[in-house]
Amino acid sequence: MEIAVAGVGYVGLTTAVCLADIGHTVICVDIDKKKINSLKDGNSPIYEDGLGELLNKNKDRLSYTTEEKLAYQKADVIFVCTGTPSRSNGSANLDYVFNVINSIKKSSNKDKVVVIKSTVPVGTCDKVEKKLNDNSKHKFYVVSNPEFLSQGSAVKDMLLPSRIIVGTDDLYSTEIMKKLYEPLTKIPYCAPYLLVDRESAEMAKYAANNFLALKIAYINEVANLCEKTGADIKAVTKTMSYDKRIGDSFLKTGIGFGGSCFKKDTKAFDYLGKTNGCEMKTVKATIDANQKQNLILLDKVLSTVDNLNGKKVAVLGLSFKPKTDDLRDSVSIANVDVLLEYGAEVNVYDPLVLDGFKKLYGDRVSYYDTIDEAIKKCDFAMIMTEWDEIVSYDLNKYRKYMKKPIIYDGRNCYDLEDVKKAKIVYYSIGRRKIGKDKV
Ligand SMILES: NC(=O)c1ccc[n+]([C@@H]2O[C@H](COP(=O)([O-])OP(=O)(O)OC[C@H]3O[C@@H](n4cnc5c(N)ncnc54)[C@H](O)[C@@H]3O)[C@@H](O)[C@H]2O)c1
Repeated sequence: MEIAVAGVGYVGLTTAVCLADIGHTVICVDIDKKKINSLKDGNSPIYEDGLGELLNKNKDRLSYTTEEKLAYQKADVIFVCTGTPSRSNGSANLDYVFNVINSIKKSSNKDKVVVIKSTVPVGTCDKVEKKLNDNSKHKFYVVSNPEFLSQGSAVKDMLLPSRIIVGTDDLYSTEIMKKLYEPLTKIPYCAPYLLVDRESAEMAKYAANNFLALKIAYINEVANLCEKTGADIKAVTKTMSYDKRIGDSFLKTGIGFGGSCFKKDTKAFDYLGKTNGCEMKTVKATIDANQKQNLILLDKVLSTVDNLNGKKVAVLGLSFKPKTDDLRDSVSIANVDVLLEYGAEVNVYDPLVLDGFKKLYGDRVSYYDTIDEAIKKCDFAMIMTEWDEIVSYDLNKYRKYMKKPIIYDGRNCYDLEDVKKAKIVYYSIGRRKIGKDKV
């Protein structure tokens, strides 16, 4: 079976590499020449743990091209993995998906299965199928196969998925998809394989992502209330996690979610509700609560720092979460924008994305590839991303290098007892403030 993957970003490239790893031959198609050239040279254009090794291990089964027609003609199955960013009204922009569909239609030479892996609103597969089959000599079978990987553990998530969801309404593609994924359903992977109708598969992705986003927004609100009432969110979430009905994941508190998925998927779900006359009040509440939470650390700064103008600030961690080089919709961006607006001098540190950040901010901020250098002579530091390098940083060094050791920690990286011992002034989320100093 010849497979093509259209769009080799975080999802597409991981899909291609993992399908190759379970024995398939895959041609990767992207309109971005730089990405394809980098892949042809043997280098992954994105960072994901284990991706480089798998690219190399499976190089004989992987090929790369910008020549859409040739790739789509050769393929029996085409995975569509292009982005679906937000439009200004919150709806998912499907232009990138339909650009691929138009190219597939133009290249039509035999019957094919087209698999929509991009996150798309319910009903999109129907529209895609209609578009492909209208006045076509060949038959296109359209399948919804939403992706649940998390950036930072994408390869592991794809090879050992919590579940594979396949949404299809016909026997032909049911058989093809079963064969394609069969190795992942067997030892050692043993992934649950769930066959559902297409609409339910499309809905499953939004329903899951919105539930996780809601969990984050909820626990952050509880954290804010903990601060006001003297409770400690870490103790509270620990007690909650023993309840099997709640579980222990997505109870980490902080400055809320950023990134390319939750923000756009909450907006798109809200829009889908509105346009179907079914207001999604919890989704709307998630969006609002998270927006507020994204700037909550700055609220703490502004209520404790007399004047930001001319203050030297270290911003530690820039990517939207650890172990990824993705800056899309990162919370650090919204915070740095405000710091600059108020006239602060900003030093930034990140172990992976300094170059990407440079493309956005040029010489408006100063870039450091060690925490030691970034915090030197700073008035205070703000922690945005819980990279291991930041979590394991020797707390005494804040006192050693900074003008004043004042930390605003947006990810609750440190233990309060350790902070006390290191004599640091420390503000975190949903916990007591440590130390008395003002900036
Ligand atoms: N990133 C995640 O963690 C994640 C997880 C699950 C689902 N998703 C969903 O998967 C989809 C892709 O997300 P992503 O983060 O991988 O996006 P991405 O932006 O990293 O990758 C998209 C790729 O598509 C390419 N592209 C655009 N138009 C094209 C065309 N006409 N032909 C071929 N290639 C084209 C782009 O150049 C880019 O390389 C989105 O719908 C997203 O919501 C993402």
